[in-house]
Amino acid sequence: MSPRIALVTGGTGGIGRETCRQLARAGLRVVAGDLPADAARLADFQETMVGLDVIFQPLDVADPTSCAAALAAIERSHGPVDVLVNAAGITRDATLRKMSREQWDDVLSVNLDSVFTLCKLVVDGMCERGFGRIVNISSVNGQTGQFGQTNYAAAKAGMHGFTMALAREVARKGVTVNSVSPGYIRTAMTEAMPEDVKQQVLAMVPAGRIGEPADIARAVVFLCDGQAGYLTGVNLPVNGGLFISF
Ligand code: CAA
Repeated sequence: MSPRIALVTGGTGGIGRETCRQLARAGLRVVAGDLPADAARLADFQETMVGLDVIFQPLDVADPTSCAAALAAIERSHGPVDVLVNAAGITRDATLRKMSREQWDDVLSVNLDSVFTLCKLVVDGMCERGFGRIVNISSVNGQTGQFGQTNYAAAKAGMHGFTMALAREVARKGVTVNSVSPGYIRTAMTEAMPEDVKQQVLAMVPAGRIGEPADIARAVVFLCDGQAGYLTGVNLPVNGGLFISF
C-alpha cells in the first residue's frame, strides 16, 4: 500500500521539522512546506531528515497562489494530501498601542488566513476519499492571551474556532480536525523573546522546564493516527501545566 501523504507547513521550523520527522517515522510520506530556503538552510534541513521519507516543497502560506501551486505540485508528484498540519507561524510582538497595521496583518495572514486557504484546498479531496486528518498548531497564548501579543493571541484563538467549526462540517466524512496548543517550546521563536520575560514564563511552568519540539510532534502524530477517527474538534494542550483547565 502506498504511504499516506502529509503536508506540514512551517516544515523547516522548530515544531514543524520535528513533526515531519515523527510523521515519517510513523510511516507517512511527508512534505515539508516552507518559504523557499537558501542552500545552507536547506542542506541543514536535509541533514536532519536523512533516511526519512521527507521532501521539501517551497510554499508561502500567506499567498493563496503559492498554496494552490504547492498543492498541485504535491498531488502530481506524490498524490493527494491525507494529513495537513498547519504549523507555520510568526510573531510580531508589540503592545497594541505600538502595534502597526502591518504587524497585525502579517500575523493574521500567516497564522490564521493560511489555515483557511490550505484547509479549503485539501478538504474536498479528503471528504471524497473518506479519510483526512487536519491538525492546527495553535498556542497556549491563544487560550490565555499574552502581554504584547494581541495579534498572535487573536490568530491562535481564531484557530480554535475554525477547528471546532470545520470538525463539525466534515466529521461524517472520516475527516478529523483538531488543535494542539503548545506552551513555551525550545524554538527560534521563543529564543527571540526578551530574556527576562522568558525567565518569568519558565518560572510559571509546573513541569519546571521549557518544552521540546518532540513534545508537540508526539501529540500531532497521535491525532493523525489512522485509528484516531473518533477524536475530533479537540484542543490538546501540551504546555507542561502552564495553563491547566477543563
Ligand atoms: N505584564 C505587565 N506589564 C508589562 C509586561 C507584562 N508581561 N511586560 C511589560 N510590561 C510593562 C513594562 O513594565 C512597561 O511599563 P511602564 O510603561 O509603566 O514602564 C510597559 O509595559 C512597556 O510597554 P511597551 O509598550 O513600551 O513595551 P516594550 O516595547 O518594552 O515591549 C513587548 C513589550 C514587545 C511585549 C516585550 O515585552 C516582549 O517582547 N514581550 C514578550 C512577549 C511574549 O511573551 N511573546 C511570546 C513569544 S513566543 C510565542 O509566542 C510562542 C508561543 O506560542 C508560546
